[in-house]
Amino acid sequence: MRKRLIVSAASALALLLAVPASAATPSPGAAGVGDPYYPTYGNGGYDVSHYDIRLKYQPATDLLEGTTTILATATQDLSRFNLDFVLDVQQVLVNGRAARFASTGEAELEITPDRPIAKGSPVTVVVRYSGVPGEVERDGYSAWLRTPDGGVAANEPVAAWWWFPSNDHPTDKATFDVSVLVPDGTQVISNGLSTGQSSRAGWTRYNWRQTKPQATYLATLAIGRFDVRTDTTPSGLPVITAYSKDLGENDGAARASVERTGELVDWLSGYFGEYPFTSVGGYVPNVPTGYALETQTQIFYSPAQFARGANTSVVVHELAHQWYGDSVSVQRWSDIWLNEGFARYSQWLWSEHENEGTAQEIADYVYSYYPANDAFWTVKPGDPGADHQFSSAVYDRGAVAVQALRNTVGDEKFFQILKGWPTERRYGNATVQQFQAYAERISGKKLGDLFTTWLFTPSKPAVPSAGAPAKAAAGPASAAAALPQEPRSWKKIQETNSLHDNGSGHGHGR
Ligand code: TRP
Ligand code: ZN
Repeated sequence: MRKRLIVSAASALALLLAVPASAATPSPGAAGVGDPYYPTYGNGGYDVSHYDIRLKYQPATDLLEGTTTILATATQDLSRFNLDFVLDVQQVLVNGRAARFASTGEAELEITPDRPIAKGSPVTVVVRYSGVPGEVERDGYSAWLRTPDGGVAANEPVAAWWWFPSNDHPTDKATFDVSVLVPDGTQVISNGLSTGQSSRAGWTRYNWRQTKPQATYLATLAIGRFDVRTDTTPSGLPVITAYSKDLGENDGAARASVERTGELVDWLSGYFGEYPFTSVGGYVPNVPTGYALETQTQIFYSPAQFARGANTSVVVHELAHQWYGDSVSVQRWSDIWLNEGFARYSQWLWSEHENEGTAQEIADYVYSYYPANDAFWTVKPGDPGADHQFSSAVYDRGAVAVQALRNTVGDEKFFQILKGWPTERRYGNATVQQFQAYAERISGKKLGDLFTTWLFTPSKPAVPSAGAPAKAAAGPASAAAALPQEPRSWKKIQETNSLHDNGSGHGHGR
């Protein structure tokens, strides 16, 4: 049990006067963590260790209600602090006492406890709330996707706002318990492992637990009529997959792709090292969207991705994120290349494995495919800007950058880096600059020019990733040089890409 500072009003004054001059006066926690792309995302002044989310959901009305209990530690003397949230709040308790609260800004819940919180002390926050998440919009958008049989929370960079109050930034990871009561016949999917369910009077409560650190945007909730399957990989890792019962003609291709999760995660472990979490899987809800999202251990897929047949490439992409994105997360959203450049590159490795084009062939194809005057080259994958965070350049040019690194340091060092980075940085956060320093340490080479050229220059690099002179440089006669032959995997990979590339994003704009 921790020590509590309990003082009467009179002794509080005495205590205040006795405070040494160097002690900070309690002050408000900042309304953001200072992410340059999204200044109000996350909050300052505390660090969350656990979310306990306990809800009830009615598919017929989209009414979501319940409580979230947050365990945190104050990182400064706090007079008040914020959570990020958009639903209606009925009550807030801080360390068991009612606190004043107000919803402000785009998604700020401002909480004033009845007494200041001392730096280093534990804080328990209980928020009781309700709302119809599908009807709450920010920038004309809701991250809660309604389905005929329920709803799904899956979006990037923000999804939590619509279903639990949080410190919504990847730098504050926590463990999660998610428990949701739904009418019998409806299933609930969330991250990690199921810890059981119980039924009474027509309602069933489902319980999920994530025991490894998880960023808030990687928490997912899906409610609907699902066929849930459980299995284990040869190495003993639990695999949980779920398919909406209403996938219609996409059902077969969805299962033929997502049921290969166990095999593909084993294959990726060969490149990235030991899988960082205690389960793996994915779900395909009945949503009209076209994208997938690397929600931790329980990946979100859209049925549309399987409309043209099985697509193992997208499964590889989202599984690669479990290492690059989920276990090792961005320090700032501008570091998104560390997620998408490597997830895309893993699809190239899979293409190579499937004999559908080598990584080098695809890199050369990307290089030739976009002429120098194409807007594609104006996006810097190493700092694309909030409006281009998920532009195809972050993925495709980002993966060419990875291939250029491979060519510069050689295969042996390259694969050592690919595996060593997620191992060394497991469950943490990192910047592009830190990755460069790591690659320099492992390879013993200075990589400044390489990173500047491929990640931080808003124009087409003069020389392709393999280092040979560009075809166009050979003279005017070859200006119309034919595009290299299209790699066989190109369309499938591009299809995954174009579905989630529309410039400013289908997601929360800003
Ligand atoms: N990270 C996702 C992927 O690469 C793509 C993505 C970006 C996304 N923004 C999103 C998915 C918003 C869902 C919602 O697979
Ligand atoms: Zn991705």
